[in-house]
Order: sequence, then structure tokens, then C-alpha cells
Amino acid sequence: MTDAERYALIGTGSRAELYLDGILARPELARLVAWSDPNPGRQDYYEAKFPPGRAPHRFDPAELETAIAEHGVQRVIVTTPDFTHAEYVSRALLAGADVVVEKPLTIDVDGVRRIRHALDESGRSLVTTFNYRYSPRNSALKRVIASGRIGQVTSVHFEWVLDTAHGADYFRRWHRYKKNNGGLLVHKASHHFDLVNWWIDAAPVRVFASGGLRFYGAENAARRGLGPRPERGTGHAAEDPWSLDLTLDAKNKGLYFDAEKYDGYLRDRDVFDPGITIEDNLSLVVDYDTGASMSYSLNAHSPWEGYRIAVNGTEGRAELDVVERGAVLRGPDGFVVVDPSAQPGLFPAADVRPPSERLLVQRHWEPAEEVPIEAGTGGHGGGDALMLDHVFGRVSSDEPLHRIAGVDDGVRAVSVGIAGNRSLETGAPVVVSELGLDAAQ
Ligand SMILES: NC(=O)c1ccc[n+]([C@@H]2O[C@H](COP(=O)([O-])OP(=O)(O)OC[C@H]3O[C@@H](n4cnc5c(N)ncnc54)[C@H](O)[C@@H]3O)[C@@H](O)[C@H]2O)c1
Repeated sequence: MTDAERYALIGTGSRAELYLDGILARPELARLVAWSDPNPGRQDYYEAKFPPGRAPHRFDPAELETAIAEHGVQRVIVTTPDFTHAEYVSRALLAGADVVVEKPLTIDVDGVRRIRHALDESGRSLVTTFNYRYSPRNSALKRVIASGRIGQVTSVHFEWVLDTAHGADYFRRWHRYKKNNGGLLVHKASHHFDLVNWWIDAAPVRVFASGGLRFYGAENAARRGLGPRPERGTGHAAEDPWSLDLTLDAKNKGLYFDAEKYDGYLRDRDVFDPGITIEDNLSLVVDYDTGASMSYSLNAHSPWEGYRIAVNGTEGRAELDVVERGAVLRGPDGFVVVDPSAQPGLFPAADVRPPSERLLVQRHWEPAEEVPIEAGTGGHGGGDALMLDHVFGRVSSDEPLHRIAGVDDGVRAVSVGIAGNRSLETGAPVVVSELGLDAAQ
């Protein structure tokens, strides 16, 4: 007999693996008793993780309520595409389970109101997982600001660049349609907006956005004179760096290529297809309830990947500079080498911008000081393991850095993207309180 909580998971795609491994590594805290995905191929792929005969019960997504009742599920993990979060989160809550949902909490005003209603009705709880908070460098910046060393925050300058490997990937699959994820302002930048809300302990009140699809998509490709393109990347990666070959990576092959026969989901479509509706260049100005403001930009076709953030305060300034990948390069065989640091010497030029992180604090009238970033072991400098410990251990929000996020943090994070999307449509600034995100429906 064990006290481990009984979990169900819905959406057994790529992200689900973090939670599956997290549960299997914490048998004293959690047990996966049921799981669901419209595509059985993806459960087939993950089933090997479980001891023979011990795989969770499979259920149809339409039968979520029945599965919760039949299997005594106490908590549901939602790792489905963003546009389905509101539905599964609210159904799980109303069926009597607590919920852990991947970011973004949801993609629009209706989704927020539906989730708030289900929380009010059910009295259950919800955790939105913001793994970036757990990255040691981001936690270190939180500590610096919370310590008061730079005084009261007056403004933030934040630039995030996604490269031609990672950034391009959002244009190959379901993420390329705004109706599925609210665009990168919601899908991706909700991570970044959450970090700022959390770092400076503030809520966004007004958003102005400008941006567009300026690089990917058929029209941009035609304007730049790009000729006919293969419909999908598999089989073309040696001659075309924009192509992703699903068969070259065991996870991509098992989860997606081998499972295409069930639902026709192609994970490797061409980034220069017609019909893409998300933006690839975005700039925002955001005002906060503390009086601070932020200038933010996101680019999804950069030659390197990382971010730069500067936080100005009444006593000084903090700066965090991060290079996650210094270059996306092509090897002698033509294939893209997304991790040049794994092959030292292959690209000497890549060493000019090695993966790095640097946190500086400079107080008025003092020289800059480098703040050490204490990394642990495992994924994202130990951040992944710590987040899973918090999620499965149900660590409360009075943990010193307040990294566990609930519904309000989840709403605050998507509110910037939702307001930003409205601003993109209207060309005017949007007042967050006028969106109606505080109400249930
Ligand atoms: N925190 C992070 O850094 C991070 C990273 C990756 C993904 N995510 C989030 O995780 C979620 C899943 O992303 P992913 O990359 O695993 O996508 P994915 O496409 O690999 O997996 C999604 C899974 O959901 C299933 N699915 C599709 N439609 C469904 C429906 N209507 N009902 C139930 N299941 C359905 C698909 O068959 C697939 O197995 C997204 O919300 C994404 O934002 C977060």
C-alpha cells in the first residue's frame, strides 16, 4: 500500500516525457494510473518506460470524467496543444481532480474565464508549470531584485532571440496557426512575461504591440526569391537546412513519424508554407501596476539563441546575458549541427559566442559585480528536477522564491500576450483590466 497520489495525464506528446519521467522517478509521491491521447502511437512509444504489465490505463479524451472516477484520479496533468488547455483543465477540475497544466494556461479570454469558473465551482487547485523560473540564472536574478540591491524597479529591457533551429520549429507544426496557440506572444512569450511578472513582482496593466510574419511563410520566401520547396523536411535535411528529418532522431521518429498513420499529424512541414498565421517578429511596450515599464522583443529567425535582460532600479541596474546556442551551423555532410559545442574543433568560429550566462549587478557609484549562478545537476542546470520536486511534492507558494505558480500567475502571464494580440489587431494600446480576465464565465 502506498500514499502516492494518483495521476492521469492527457496529451502524450513531446512535453509529456518530462512528467512521465518525473513520476517514475518519484514513486513515493506519484503514480500514473491513466493516460490519454487521440494518437495511440505516442502511448506505444512511451509504454517502454513502464515495467511490463504496469503501463497506465488508456482512455479516450472524451472519457476524461469517467477515467477520473473509475481510476480514483486525484490530479490530472495537461500537456495537450494550447487551444485545448481550457477544456481539459476545466473538465478535470469539475470532475473533482486537481490540475497541473503546462504553460500557457490557455490562449484567450474565454479560456481564462472558463478555467476561473471551474476553479470557483469545484474548489479544486491548479498549478501552471513555469519551468523557466527554476533555471538557476533566472532564480539568481529574482534573488538580486528581491534583495533590494538595485532598489525599486523602474524599467526593464528584455530581448529574446530564437534561432533557425528552435525558432523555425514553431513554423512546422500546430504552433504555426494562431487559433491553436495565440501565436508566439502567448505560446512562447508567456514564459518571458511570467518571468518579468515574477522577477519584479508586478502585474501588467497596459500593452502596446507591433509585429508580423516577416521571414517565414510563402509570401516572404517568394519575396526573397526562394524557389519551390519540399512539402516536408524528412528526406531533405542534407540539402536544405530548413528541413527537419524526423527519422534522424529516435524520439521524433517514434513519437511522430511512426505515429503519422493514426492521425496524419506531420511534424516536419515546410516553414515557408502558405497559410502561416503567427508572427515571427514582435515588439511590445508593457506598463506594470508598480509604475515600471518594459520594452520587449522576440525574434524567431536569429542565427543564435539566447536572451538579454536589463533591470533598472532606483539604486542601480542588473543585467543577465545568456547564450543558449551560439550558432546553428551545417556540418560537412550538409546536416545542421544544432549543438556545435558537442563537437569541439568542428567549427572553430562557433567559439566566438560559446554558450554562456552572466549576471551583473551595478549599484550607483560602484563598479559592476558578477553574481555567481549556482547550477545543480540535470536538465536546465538542475531546474527541471527542482520544478518536478515542487510540483509532485505539492510545495506551497510560500517557498522563498514563490516559484510554484497558480491560476493568477498563469492568467497574468497570458494576459500580456492576449492584450498584445488585441493591440496587433487594433494598432492601439490595450488596458489589461478591460479584457475581463478577472471574471468567471
Ligand atoms: N514549458 C516548456 O518549456 C514547454 C515545452 C514544450 C511544450 N510545452 C507545452 O506542452 C504542451 C504540449 O506541447 P508538445 O510540444 O508536447 O506538443 P506535441 O504536439 O508533441 O504533443 C501534443 C499531444 O497532444 C495530443 N493532442 C492533440 N490534440 C488533442 C486533443 N484535442 N485532445 C487531447 N490530446 C490531443 C497530440 O496527439 C500529441 O500527442 C503545449 O501546451 C506546450 O505549450 C511546454
